[in-house]
Amino acid sequence: MKDLTSVVIIGAQWGDEGKGKVVDYLAEKASLVVRYNGGNNAGHTVVVAGKKYKLHLMPSGSVRGERVVIGNGVVVDPKCLLEEMATLESGGKRINLVISDRAHVIFPFHAQLDGLQEEVKAKKGVAAGTTKRGIGPCYMDKAGRFGIRMCELVDEKIFEEKISDLYARAEKQLNSYGQKPQKTLKQVVEEYSEYARKLKKYVGDASIEANDAIDGGKNVLFEGAQAHMLDIDHGVYPYGTSSNTISGGACTGAGVPPTKIDAIIGVAKAYNTRVGGGPVPTDFNDIDENGTLIQITDSTTKEERENYEIARKIREKGGEYGTTTGRPRRCGWFDAVTVAYASRINGLTGLAITKLDVLSAVKKIKLCTSYKLNGEIIKYQPALASDYAKCKPIYEEFDSWQDLSEREWSEMAKKGYNALPKEMRVYIERISELTKVPIGIVSIGAEREATIQLKKIF
Ligand code: IMP
Repeated sequence: MKDLTSVVIIGAQWGDEGKGKVVDYLAEKASLVVRYNGGNNAGHTVVVAGKKYKLHLMPSGSVRGERVVIGNGVVVDPKCLLEEMATLESGGKRINLVISDRAHVIFPFHAQLDGLQEEVKAKKGVAAGTTKRGIGPCYMDKAGRFGIRMCELVDEKIFEEKISDLYARAEKQLNSYGQKPQKTLKQVVEEYSEYARKLKKYVGDASIEANDAIDGGKNVLFEGAQAHMLDIDHGVYPYGTSSNTISGGACTGAGVPPTKIDAIIGVAKAYNTRVGGGPVPTDFNDIDENGTLIQITDSTTKEERENYEIARKIREKGGEYGTTTGRPRRCGWFDAVTVAYASRINGLTGLAITKLDVLSAVKKIKLCTSYKLNGEIIKYQPALASDYAKCKPIYEEFDSWQDLSEREWSEMAKKGYNALPKEMRVYIERISELTKVPIGIVSIGAEREATIQLKKIF
């Protein structure tokens, strides 16, 4: 069999599955790491030699000084990008970056519109709980063909022409919400011209870069942001994000053909988490719609109390707070229906199961195998979010495993898969059976050492 050279990594749930760690782990053997969707709504945490790096826009491989690419499918906030580049540089990391000339640019009015559109949706109970980074409005301008791309930003004359029109449109929209742009046109032009001067040398044809690397037999990693259930087409509409987060997004968002993708790894956490609104069948429901923890009182039922207690143990042990927003994440049991769905749409060739160590916080573990909807057992996600909200999870129950220190988990990982607690292996193998995806990687701690690779990827 030919060695794999191009691998896509996607989140197989609702995001925050630990993709940053898996990408970092594989990036060691990659020559190029490519981001293909989303923007600074993403939050990757990478721990290298005990040092934590929180990245939003720069591909995770940048922490290792790899050559990295921001593809055309990404929406770029230049301010955020320059800040991250400065942080990496101050940590002694070399910036070796290509930004696609076709990637669209986020402006301050996009973020302003994002907040206002969310307010309107919240009143109707359909807010996704966006990161308010302007992601949706920027993609709206892209789809409407009003947007400004990096190649236009770095061309002074073209930028000045295009920004006046885009600004006037945004101003009209803001006025319709009774608001004005926070920055004047002159301020935007000055600020963004300065960003353009700093970024110009990195702007180029990212598709040529990615294809040449693959054709040259180099290992290329495509790093998906967000996750399957947040995909604009296949996620829980309208509660997801505005880009194609799925593996196919690597083709459109980086300019590589499907025939050049060799493997697709879905990263899934050993339990479920979600930041933002919308139905999640296996949710412990201990957070209200404002993102606040619900207090346990005398009127809390026994079942609610048990769920809240489990949620809090998992949230604390797993550090389940948003990297970008700091919001407590909604926690729940692993949903094999969701991950099997992710496998169907993304063509997963392997699963990376992360944060298994966290489940030692509880004695019994539940695994959702199917849903009950209107008296019928189903194994798929209905298209209507209102139907999805009615899906009741059907569970299998498993024994958990002993609680170990970080060091002990890392030591265990060195001994390989068979050294893992038997209960953990039973749980992992059932996930693989239900989702019909072989397990490629098992992660039992934040450190690189706490990783077991079962399947050759590069
Ligand atoms: P947006 O991408 O900021 O428009 O947010 C749309 C939805 O996707 C919201 O529910 C966000 O909480 C969610 N979301 C966006 N980016 C991430 C991420 O990187 N991890 C988890 N959830 C995310």
